[in-house]
Amino acid sequence: MDGNGRWAKSRGEERTFGHKNAIAAVRNAINACNEVHIPYLTLYTFSSENWSRPNEEVNTLMNLLSETLLLEAEEIFTKGLRLHIIGDIEKLPALVRDQLLNVVDLTKDNKKGNLILALSYGAQKEILNAVKQISKKVKAGELNEDEIDEKVFENHLYTKDFPPVDLMIRTSGEVRISNFLLWQVAYAEMQFLDILWPDFTKETFFQCIVDYQIKERRYGKTSEQLEVE
Ligand code: IPE
Ligand code: MG
Repeated sequence: MDGNGRWAKSRGEERTFGHKNAIAAVRNAINACNEVHIPYLTLYTFSSENWSRPNEEVNTLMNLLSETLLLEAEEIFTKGLRLHIIGDIEKLPALVRDQLLNVVDLTKDNKKGNLILALSYGAQKEILNAVKQISKKVKAGELNEDEIDEKVFENHLYTKDFPPVDLMIRTSGEVRISNFLLWQVAYAEMQFLDILWPDFTKETFFQCIVDYQIKERRYGKTSEQLEVE
């Protein structure tokens, strides 16, 4: 979800004005997924690198997260969505973390869809964590080196309960991944949109899905092989 700062600047406002106006776009994305039954939506909400932004901006973002959770928790629950958090949540302010974990707990039996917030998230750290956990198991004799395959590795990522990414969308015209789900996007379709995140509507999302649907996902095979299959 990129481009909040530029959206605000282009209106002669502070960057935080952009963050406040980003919430409607989040709601649009959630509603779009709900309408067409997309079972997993992961929102890159705050990266491990975002902690280096000015304190004031970080504080605004944390407050906004907290306020929005309070306002939207019931709606998330009523929609039948289950909330998950991925990232180094120990770094979040205790109050925000508790609120998040409350909503995670409140929604744990919901089955209509999964809303995953990537918070204080960095894919390189996630991968390193997996490596460390696996090394410990090997050292303790719980796991044999030859048994380490893609499945075993994935079971040590934050995303172990989720399928791989099918479609990754980044707004704001930047064409980069910025440390997001590096392992999980191995075969994802990528869409980079020029619009800024606060302008993201349900229709924008539906267009992304239509563009995704006409892609042929070959996973290294040829078109001819896929036709036979
Ligand atoms: C994305 O918008 C929001 C967060 C990273 C929290 P930005 O704040 O990165 O907006 P730009 O990229 O400066 O326009
Ligand atoms: Mg940005």
